[in-house]
Amino acid sequence: MSIKITWFGHAALGLEIDGYKLVVDPYISENPAATLKPEEVEADFILITHGHFDHVGDAVNIAKRTGAMVISNFEISQWMEKQGVANVHGQHIGGAHDHPFGTLKLTPALHGSGLPDGTNGGNPVGFIITTRDNRKIYIVGDTGLFSDLKLYASLGIELAFVPIGDNYTMGPEDAYTAVELINPKHVIPIHYNTWELIAQDAEAWAERVNKLGVQAHVLKPGESLTL
Ligand code: NI
Ligand code: MN
Repeated sequence: MSIKITWFGHAALGLEIDGYKLVVDPYISENPAATLKPEEVEADFILITHGHFDHVGDAVNIAKRTGAMVISNFEISQWMEKQGVANVHGQHIGGAHDHPFGTLKLTPALHGSGLPDGTNGGNPVGFIITTRDNRKIYIVGDTGLFSDLKLYASLGIELAFVPIGDNYTMGPEDAYTAVELINPKHVIPIHYNTWELIAQDAEAWAERVNKLGVQAHVLKPGESLTL
């Protein structure tokens, strides 16, 4: 079964797994890099890594329009309910749950998580998705480098998404080390070039990463890749 990945710019991702459409951190309408409108986003599930505006983005409106289930940590799932989102599922760090698209586990991330209205968004998270045919995708989330990333290497991660933008998250050097620790087959850099402050040379980073034996894919916003 193939997995279709679309990068919407910043940390916003579309994943098509087994016929299910997942959208991660749908920061679209205010995202200078986005190439589509929030009304054009299709979703069965919306995954939110943390409360910051550039991750919650258009999640509330997309969830209300599509009826997609919003999955996040407990605090953000409660906040989503208060915004009128009917279909939510709260999990928390270390916890896995079986969803129609596969199993989703929440992982730690070193970052903040304040929601746009100032509500405490709990601890920020990353996601490990295990598909029905046992393929593993690790969305690291907004985070600094931490050595526990190497714990996930033993799972055999096929595809990892890592931030490289620096300033708010890991920069290229630490993201390179993160790739060494996670040792995925494929990696896609995200959370860069949205604004001047997080401008990075992703191609140069990818060249270095490829020498580790990890295939780096630099996507343009709106571009898709099928694995
Ligand atoms: Ni953030
Ligand atoms: Mn962010």
